[in-house]
Amino acid sequence: MNWKKHYHQILQTRKRSRVSLLKHMPKNAVCAEIGVWMGEFSDLILKYAQPAKLYLIDCWEFQAAFASEASLGTAKDQRSYDKMYTAVSHRLGQKPNTEIIRAYSQDAVTQFPDYFFDWLYLDANHSYQHVLRDIRLYLPKIKPGGYITGDDYTWGKEFDYPVKRAVHDILTTAPLKLVKTIRSQYILRKVGHSASHKHR
Ligand SMILES: C[S@@+](CC[C@H](N)C(=O)[O-])C[C@H]1O[C@@H](n2cnc3c(N)ncnc32)[C@H](O)[C@@H]1O
Repeated sequence: MNWKKHYHQILQTRKRSRVSLLKHMPKNAVCAEIGVWMGEFSDLILKYAQPAKLYLIDCWEFQAAFASEASLGTAKDQRSYDKMYTAVSHRLGQKPNTEIIRAYSQDAVTQFPDYFFDWLYLDANHSYQHVLRDIRLYLPKIKPGGYITGDDYTWGKEFDYPVKRAVHDILTTAPLKLVKTIRSQYILRKVGHSASHKHR
């Protein structure tokens, strides 16, 4: 098999597991993607989860330390991030059910009241500390019975799987349950009951 075909198969498998995650999410929800990059997964959210409102949160900022940390999704300079932001804004920013927030996740969180989101997808900085912090910061913003989901659960062997470690550490103290992992995708559910957020 040539490398192009192999890479294509990897992408297709990844897409299937992400679509499978989205099919677990309630429709007509208020949700967010944290870490948007070029908005490829945002398209899938719109297509498969059909949200009432999707917040797209990304700093689109070159971070010198980012590449050397246990992180994914790095462009080489600020110009590349500005271009990416412009392209995403043009393509997705005009839709009635999307809102783009160009900010760091830790700053954007203050814009939302508690119990605001039905679910969110975390795919920003993948270092252990950042994943832990993002889950802690956004947990109060999730409705009871809502979901914190994310990417790259199985990523980063060389960093001792930072996302997986953060997810499992938070589970020991926070009111969250691990519902399911689908290859590199994870689904956590906030403990509490809400009739409109039954896990399907
Ligand atoms: C792996 S990419 C996201 C990929 C996207 N979810 C997709 O599936 O196509 C990571 C993104 O997180 C953003 N990012 C990194 N640290 C962040 C932070 N602290 N707050 C917000 N965005 C951040 C980067 O700018 C980058 O666009």
